[in-house]
Amino acid sequence: MNTINQSAWQTATSLSGKTVVMTGVASGIGRATALQLASAGAAVIGSDVNQKDGEALAAEIRASGGRAEFLPLDLTNGASVDAFVAAAKPHDPDIVINVAGWDKIGPFLDNTPDVWEKLVGINFLGPIRMIHGLLPGLIAKRYGKVITVSSDAGRVGSLGETFYAGTKGGIIAFTKSLAREVSRYNINCNVICPGPTDTPLFHSIENEKLRAALVTASPMRRLGTPTEVANGIVFLSTPAADFIQGQVLSVSGGLTMHG
Ligand SMILES: NC(=O)c1ccc[n+]([C@@H]2O[C@H](COP(=O)([O-])OP(=O)(O)OC[C@H]3O[C@@H](n4cnc5c(N)ncnc54)[C@H](O)[C@@H]3O)[C@@H](O)[C@H]2O)c1
Repeated sequence: MNTINQSAWQTATSLSGKTVVMTGVASGIGRATALQLASAGAAVIGSDVNQKDGEALAAEIRASGGRAEFLPLDLTNGASVDAFVAAAKPHDPDIVINVAGWDKIGPFLDNTPDVWEKLVGINFLGPIRMIHGLLPGLIAKRYGKVITVSSDAGRVGSLGETFYAGTKGGIIAFTKSLAREVSRYNINCNVICPGPTDTPLFHSIENEKLRAALVTASPMRRLGTPTEVANGIVFLSTPAADFIQGQVLSVSGGLTMHG
């Protein structure tokens, strides 16, 4: 007797009929995530400050038979986030994914207040403003997944990324607390922590020695690919992850390991 339900896993990992609102689709991990989400059947409402590449990504998904739309967004500007949220709401999202992020490497004391404000705006307040705006819709439908991309720097700290690590650690604590609050509405809130990943953000680190040291610090001794990180994000978006709540998943080749 065949006791294996051949389609069970396919059903559990399908995003058919689901709508995702996400940030950071113009580049790196966000771009790879949008492509994977679309291939899993989701409609993607993507955003980014880089309008040209974001629109190109949405067109690429549509050209391959997927569903995607691009809406502009600047996470450093509260009014822009509010306008994006207002435009995204009518799409009735099921899943909210915050991928966009920014970093500036250097000693803490060299950071000026304009850098602090940019880091907090993009990495911390931006995702929070997005979630604050879109959460009522998820609560109303008693279903939702909220996934935010943090960093292993936010779990264990990182030399030269003190303020960045602070914003990334903050979003982890925020997510865990939110998970406790919205579990009763069948909403899952989780975090993905990439390690060094082969994206323009990583290659913007000017210090070549630091880039090399970050790679060799990982037991797997290589950079992650954007798709490898995207796979973790997409998994947490699917029904297969319905009982995973308030967790932090590192996708970093073992750079950090947590009990
Ligand atoms: N690449 C890595 O090594 C690494 C490691 C740990 C964590 N991360 C995190 O992964 C996420 C994705 O980073 P990535 O490596 O793909 O970088 P990336 O630079 O390739 O992509 C980041 C995207 O965010 C967008 N963005 C930046 N500022 C914005 C703003 N003000 N408003 C809206 N969008 C804005 C950019 O235009 C870009 O498309 C970030 O949150 C980053 O902190 C990356």
